[in-house]
Amino acid sequence: MHIWTEMTIKEGLSWAKEQLQEACERPAFEAELLLAYHLGKDRTYLLTHDMDIFADVNAFQKLIQRRAVHEPYEYIVGSASFYDIHLDVEEGVLIPRPETEILIDLVAEIIEKENITRMAEIGIGSGAISVILARKFPHLHIIATDICDTPLKVAGKNIETFGLSKQIELRKSNLIDAVPEVLELVVSNPPYIAEDFLLESNVIDYEPKEALFGGRMGDELLKQIILDVKDRGIKYLACEMGYDQKEPLQDFVNKIGVKYIKFYKDLAEFDRGFILKF
Ligand SMILES: C[S@@+](CC[C@H](N)C(=O)[O-])C[C@H]1O[C@@H](n2cnc3c(N)ncnc32)[C@H](O)[C@@H]1O
Repeated sequence: MHIWTEMTIKEGLSWAKEQLQEACERPAFEAELLLAYHLGKDRTYLLTHDMDIFADVNAFQKLIQRRAVHEPYEYIVGSASFYDIHLDVEEGVLIPRPETEILIDLVAEIIEKENITRMAEIGIGSGAISVILARKFPHLHIIATDICDTPLKVAGKNIETFGLSKQIELRKSNLIDAVPEVLELVVSNPPYIAEDFLLESNVIDYEPKEALFGGRMGDELLKQIILDVKDRGIKYLACEMGYDQKEPLQDFVNKIGVKYIKFYKDLAEFDRGFILKF
């Protein structure tokens, strides 16, 4: 790779686009995002200052090299856009996915309809689900668990950023083992990928295995969550799931007995989750 000591913004963008050709679907766009991040400016600044020489070319080249080997953009900049906010993220925490916004909207409908004030989230990750729900419902109290330390640390930071420490309580726990309180609803986007499923390099090489794999078939943890919620006498459970898990989960709940289970699809029309009532 040619080491530049000086570059104009225009040259920087053209060089970066070339480097990102293989790793990114939209190399020019990501080159702009990363240069804007490097400069602490927005993208329009790049257009209006394209002949300016910019500072610390070397640090910019390092950012581009990270992205060129498939490191997710969100880990490089330490932030992910989700719903109507930006959340801090870092390696060790799942980058929140847009499809999880559908789960949040369905849960919000139940909270509103049933006037729910106490609920739990299993596997908080960055805090995506709990932070959005707590912002929507100022009287809602959420106990959120995770089995790993990094998500608990990062979620804690995001909870503080949005001033939600009084509403969201964090606990290190397997599922809801450490949550003995009476609850009306549990939400979870648990790990649900089968252990032999082939994932893209940006996911498998960077995102935490604990957030991805749900067992040999993938739905083992989901089934355990369903059983735990039933045993605890909790009325509602809302979960995200894999596109191929509707049938096994329908069979499973038919056996254990539920009032109803309603499956929902994501924007690509794949089965993506369910709302269950006991
Ligand atoms: C798919 S990520 C979801 C993160 C976040 N809720 C979101 O939607 O972006 C699953 C999370 O569950 C956590 N987790 C995995 N197994 C768990 C368990 N047995 N008990 C509690 N949390 C668990 C992982 O560490 C990870 O943070």
